[in-house]
Amino acid sequence: MKKKETSPANIVIFGGKGDLAWRKLIPAFYNLFINGFLPGQFAIYGVHYEKMDQKDYEAHLLKGVNTFSRSGPAKKEQWKKFVQHIFFFEGDFTADDTFRRLAVTLTKNDKEWKNRAVRLFYYSVSPRFIEPISLLLSKFALADEVLRDRIVVEKPFGSDLHTAMELNQLLTKHFKESQIYRIDHYLGKETVQNLMTFRFANIVYESVWNHNYIDHIQITVAENIGVGGRGNYYEQAGALRDMIQNHLLQLLCVTAMEPPVSMDAEDIRNKKVDVLKAVRPLTKTDVKRNVVRGQYGAGTLNGKKQVPYRKEKNINPKSNTETFVALKLFVDNWRWQNVPFYLRTGKCLGKSTSLIVIQFKQIPHNLFGNKILFDPKPNQLIISIQPEMEISLLFHAKEPGVKLQIRPVEMDFTYKESYDAPVPEAYETLLLEALECDATLFMRADQVEAAWKVVTPILESWKKESPLHFPNYQPGSWGPKAAEALVKKDDRCWTLLPENGIIKNRVKKMK
Ligand code: BG6
Repeated sequence: MKKKETSPANIVIFGGKGDLAWRKLIPAFYNLFINGFLPGQFAIYGVHYEKMDQKDYEAHLLKGVNTFSRSGPAKKEQWKKFVQHIFFFEGDFTADDTFRRLAVTLTKNDKEWKNRAVRLFYYSVSPRFIEPISLLLSKFALADEVLRDRIVVEKPFGSDLHTAMELNQLLTKHFKESQIYRIDHYLGKETVQNLMTFRFANIVYESVWNHNYIDHIQITVAENIGVGGRGNYYEQAGALRDMIQNHLLQLLCVTAMEPPVSMDAEDIRNKKVDVLKAVRPLTKTDVKRNVVRGQYGAGTLNGKKQVPYRKEKNINPKSNTETFVALKLFVDNWRWQNVPFYLRTGKCLGKSTSLIVIQFKQIPHNLFGNKILFDPKPNQLIISIQPEMEISLLFHAKEPGVKLQIRPVEMDFTYKESYDAPVPEAYETLLLEALECDATLFMRADQVEAAWKVVTPILESWKKESPLHFPNYQPGSWGPKAAEALVKKDDRCWTLLPENGIIKNRVKKMK
């Protein structure tokens, strides 16, 4: 990461004792700190409604860093220096008093630092607190300097188009759009950012990145864990709202967008929103034919017993919430005419993996004949976002030998082999960008609304029709059978990145 001179910063985390702060935010700030990315003068306030001793708060956060930091357990000296910047701040998110005291504290820091510091207010809270926090920040003029003050809002951004629009209206009543940073942590992932570089810094791919050469695109975000302790939230959300509306559609945007005119945040975000606007609206028939939902039943996952979704904590035993979605979309513009985009995501699947697969078209004329051409469709570009971070290109090559035999080979770029430096966590990148006032990796109001528009026909159809066969897939599988059928009826199949390399696996199958 390039180090920039950062201005002093007052960082306020509403929900400072919550799970996100514990697992992600504080470990990310810690890594930014030890790598020299935070300003010399900064303070982090963890706001929480219950009383807590500062020492206990520090111990709680240290445990989080030791457990979740990518750089391993904190070093004593480094932690000692870092923790001097962190303060527990008892306060009700809905009470004037909290914000009055915050105003006094932040102004005192400004005086001490002889500089009006940047203010970052992080909403790591349940959606019902967004309104009171915004109102009170505004009432106490805490975020009045448009160029210095910003808020970071976590998903969910509403639960449908209507509530998202209401939320956007509410936020823009109190802040300028340029101050609102809506987080989608997928945009902070190193491999997702690299996709833009890959596409727009290399002429070789850009020239074939269109319907003339691409047969279809697959975007898979699979998790091999269940909903765990998040039943309360998940039961209301489901996979469509939790993953497709945001993370998968963002991946679709980065894959399908036109080259932006500049690296300016607005130019990039304009091109992304264009993709969402061009998604062909799904009709009722499309939803029936091209959207599959699933829910996991009982079984075994990673060698352990997995309870069915309906028996998870805080889940309705008759729940119809989906834990799996697969769908087919089209982007109606010149570049992507009639190229299907298959998206799928689910909990309790065979493996945790996030992949974008670009399947190129077949050669127009096969010179070699079926006997020597083992796999007619090898031209594939596989972008593995996680856990492997790699980009693989599959192409045909002649196998060494006196006879002409052609098999696919694989050309790989892996982060592990190419770079020594460790890769930052998405939250590190995003927090630093927010501190430096760069909104490129955050979502604009119109983007969020356009994404809701894409999924609205599905939400409406599903509201009217309950799923018939839930639960319909086993933990450890790849989802309901209908998800396989969705691609199979188009004479295609889902691609995965097998543990031991694509080619080895394919060749084995072909022999
Ligand atoms: C979150 C979802 O936004 O992303 C979770 O709410 C999901 O349900 C998570 O598990 C996946 O993120 P990652 O970075 O682990 O792929």
